[in-house]
Parts: sequence; structure tokens; C-alpha cells
Amino acid sequence: MGDLKHLLESIRLIAAFDEKERITHLRQDRWIDYPRAARVLQLLNEMHETPQRNRMPCLLLHGDSGMGKSMIIEKFRRAHPTVYDRKTGVEHYSVISMEMPASPSQRRFYAQLLQTIHAPYRPSDRLEALEFTTIKLLTVIKPRILFVDEIHNLLSGSPREQRAALNLLKFLANKLNCCIVVSGTQDALATLQSDDQMVSRFRPFELARWKENDEFRGFVQAFEKTLPLRQKSGLGEQPFVQALLAASHGVTGSIAEILTGAARAAIRIGTERITVDLIRAEAGLLAAAIV
Ligand SMILES: Nc1ncnc2c1ncn2[C@@H]1O[C@H](COP(=O)(O)OP(=O)(O)OP(=O)(O)O)[C@@H](O)[C@H]1O
Ligand SMILES: [Mg+2]
Repeated sequence: MGDLKHLLESIRLIAAFDEKERITHLRQDRWIDYPRAARVLQLLNEMHETPQRNRMPCLLLHGDSGMGKSMIIEKFRRAHPTVYDRKTGVEHYSVISMEMPASPSQRRFYAQLLQTIHAPYRPSDRLEALEFTTIKLLTVIKPRILFVDEIHNLLSGSPREQRAALNLLKFLANKLNCCIVVSGTQDALATLQSDDQMVSRFRPFELARWKENDEFRGFVQAFEKTLPLRQKSGLGEQPFVQALLAASHGVTGSIAEILTGAARAAIRIGTERITVDLIRAEAGLLAAAIV
């Protein structure tokens, strides 16, 4: 089987498993570090550590669908779990992570936020009551960061609803003195940037599609180390890099799907290494599935 030096130590063990077990392992989520994600996580950490003050920093994380925005948020949230205070019976969230509702009315927003923190509420409550309960609870919970993912859902609302939702975000940031991080696709960017206060308050950070550069080579090399194949594929080499970028259009999610699919095929047919042909075949399957 060779020394398996091309794999992470924790994966070397798995490479010895049989076909079925290795294919099951491929289905698991994997987190690959890369510089832009590390930069976002660092920014989030700085925000999390910012002492409470009047104008807390806010962030707008944007990028095309599948670029890994939600994965970054989830990674950060998992590193900051809730803490239950036995004395007061209060669950303290230093990080609250919710999604903009698909139809973004203020009522739905508050309802979703209350659901996220497991707070009881009556869906029939008036907007003022929902707002009052939310502010009251969050003042006790004192979150440091509130994430609102899928911010592009704003666009399904009328212009009036869109404005109301943006005002609500600014209102919460001011009222709670907490950092707000909104994230979503580029579609929402124009709407967010049409509001001067949003522009001055929310620092934009883009997760751009991958291009052919050292950062991308590093990403696919790191990905290879997590795939339990017994032979080295050398994914950082030019033909792989070009085939992957052409097939995925630089989208992280597609790259991950193509690589895990190609690894599964390499295990099944026994090549034990990914080839450019396997990547092209997987890309064809992916394209057929999308049509
Ligand atoms: N750091 C990472 N390591 C490994 N795989 C990743 C990473 N980031 C993203 N991926 C892959 O990309 C897929 C899409 O990521 P994610 O759902 O976070 O994208 P998104 O930007 O939130 O997309 P959308 O705008 O559609 O919600 C993930 O399911 C995963 O397969
Ligand atoms: Mg997402």
C-alpha cells in the first residue's frame, strides 16, 4: 500500500479500510483550510472579541452560490457553542446564526430569530409584541455576533419590505450593540449597497470564485490529503488544476463534488488515484445532473 505520505495522518488509517467503508467516509463533510476562509474566520474572531461599544463592526460576506459562505459561518458557530447558566436558567449564545426568511417580512424575521434561540412565541402576536420580546430576550442573552445568512432572500420582498428588513438589521445592531454579519449571493449586493448606512456600517468581504494561482493549488492539494486513496494523484499539478477549474467554473461546492466523485470512482475501479479523465467524467455527470 506504500507509506501513504500523501495523506493526513488521520486519513492513512482509513485508506486501509475496504471499499465500502472508504466510500462511506467520502460522504462525510470535510473542512479544508484556505487563506480567504482563514481571513474571514480571523475577522469574525476580531469582531467577537470587540468590547461592546456604540458602533459595533458589521460584515457583509458575499459570493456566488456554493462558494462556502455557510460552511464558514457554521465552522465559527461550532467553535462558539451556547452556554447554559444553571443559576439563571438562561442559555447564553455568544453567536446566533439564522437565515433571512424566504419571504422577508419583519414579523417573519422576528419569528425566525425567536425560533433560533428556542424562545416561545405566538405566531399570531403583533409585530410590536414580537419586536419587544426579541429585544428583551437578546438584551439578556447578549450575543456578540448575529449571523443572518441567505440575505439575498430579501429580494423576494417588495421594495418596501426590503427597506423595512434593512432598517430592522440596523435597528438591531444599534439596539443590541452587537456585531451583525450578513451573508449571501452577489444578487443582494446592489440592494444592500443602495443604502448609504449599510455601506458605511457593513464592511464587504467577497469569497470570489477560484482562479489558477497558488491559493487554488494549495486548496486542491489540501483536499487530496483528505481523500482515502492509496496512491498519490498530485492534484496540484497543471493538468488537474486546469481540468478542475474548467469543470467547476471555480465554484468550491462543484470542486468538492467532482473530487469526491472522482475519488469514489478511483476506489471502485481500483486505480487508487484520481486521473484527469476521472475528473472530466465526474464533471460530465455533474453537468447532466444539473440539467
Ligand atoms: N472549506 C471548505 N472545505 C471543504 N469543502 C468546502 C469548503 N467550503 C465549501 N465547501 C464545499 O462547498 C459546498 C458549498 O458550500 P456552502 O453551502 O457553504 O456554500 P454557500 O456559499 O453558502 O452557497 P449558497 O449561497 O448556495 O448558500 C459545501 O457543501 C462543501 O462541499
Ligand atoms: Mg449558504
